[in-house]
Amino acid sequence: MKIIHVVGARPNFVKIAPIMAEVAQQPDTFEQILVHTGQHYDANMSKVFFEDLGLPQPDIYLGVGSGSHAEQTAKVMLAFEPVLLREQPALVLVVGDVNSTLACTLVAKKLGVPVAHVEAGLRSFDQRMPEEINRVLTDQMASLLFTTERSANDNLVREGISEDKIHFVGNVMIDTLLRHKKRAMALKVLGNYGLRPKDHALLTMHRPSNVDEPSILAGLLQGVGEVQRHIPIVFPAHPRTVKKMWQYGFEEKLEPMSNLTITEPLPYLEFLNLMANARVVLTDSGGIQEETTILGVPCLTLRQNTERPVTVTQGTNTVVGVDPQKIIDECSLILRNGGKKGKIPELWDGRAARRIVDILNSFAEEGR
Ligand code: UD1
Repeated sequence: MKIIHVVGARPNFVKIAPIMAEVAQQPDTFEQILVHTGQHYDANMSKVFFEDLGLPQPDIYLGVGSGSHAEQTAKVMLAFEPVLLREQPALVLVVGDVNSTLACTLVAKKLGVPVAHVEAGLRSFDQRMPEEINRVLTDQMASLLFTTERSANDNLVREGISEDKIHFVGNVMIDTLLRHKKRAMALKVLGNYGLRPKDHALLTMHRPSNVDEPSILAGLLQGVGEVQRHIPIVFPAHPRTVKKMWQYGFEEKLEPMSNLTITEPLPYLEFLNLMANARVVLTDSGGIQEETTILGVPCLTLRQNTERPVTVTQGTNTVVGVDPQKIIDECSLILRNGGKKGKIPELWDGRAARRIVDILNSFAEEGR
């Protein structure tokens, strides 16, 4: 069975790695091709992840780059269609919820090629998020839907998706974390920032709803300014966020924050080390909410909602929103009492990719 895997943006690389490694174990059953759309193209957003994760080089690079939603989605579609026509795969496998995920799913569906969606069914119920639109539409078109938590199965059934297409398999992002944690922890990272274990906060933010809106971004930076008076903060900044901070002239707000270290986007292993050693993580990322849950590190999510509710009900996550005072108060609480300990969600055991490939095997059998 010939499979085309699609990746485009940073979190996709982390998710595809264990699946490709598992598929590679069965060369008599599967042939796999990796397509990189080029949605993320800077070395520190793409190439370093391939190196850290031992991913094979993409077989096909579409080089679409940045653009408006319509532009980026359309460019991926135009570039992906001839690849499908030429390669004639039996299945296209997509991960996550980025524009590349939806674009390639739509192309495959129209050409009659079945799609497998890894990380299906997550819902924030907020259609102002581009990712929510990508998720809902991708799931409607997919033939195999692999979920990370039980709430995702419920969401899919509610949306009319037949239960026999849905498979609760666990979390491939956690497969990757568990596989690489030892290597990450062996790196000497903290010293580079003058830090000791469990004595810093780690911050990421890149959601358009947080960083594109000057008043929201200003409020978040106000919160950060207060928090860094109590604990050093490391802030690997996404290119979108950097652009906006300069565009809005927020350098002035950052200048007095002597306990805040802004860095380039970091490689996977270095970031994992900083996350595992953090006292608290502040983020608007989806994946980081899950990774902190596994690491037992308290996480404050700088958004009004989460599409990953198991990280709140069972994990270490608290959804705080974007009000600066709320962020400061929740953070102080964690610095005082240590925060949520949480427990490991069901099936987040490092074997999600194996379960996915078992199901792909049955799918291949049925196709014969
Ligand atoms: C995308 C995903 C988001 C995911 C995030 C992870 C969509 C709609 N959004 O958001 O779900 O959480 O990736 O990082 O697919 N840029 C660079 N270099 C790069 C890539 C981007 O400078 O290598 C800059 C460009 O100015 C670009 C902007 O970042 O316009 C945004 O990139 P884009 O891929 O459109 O969305 P992200 O914000 O990265």
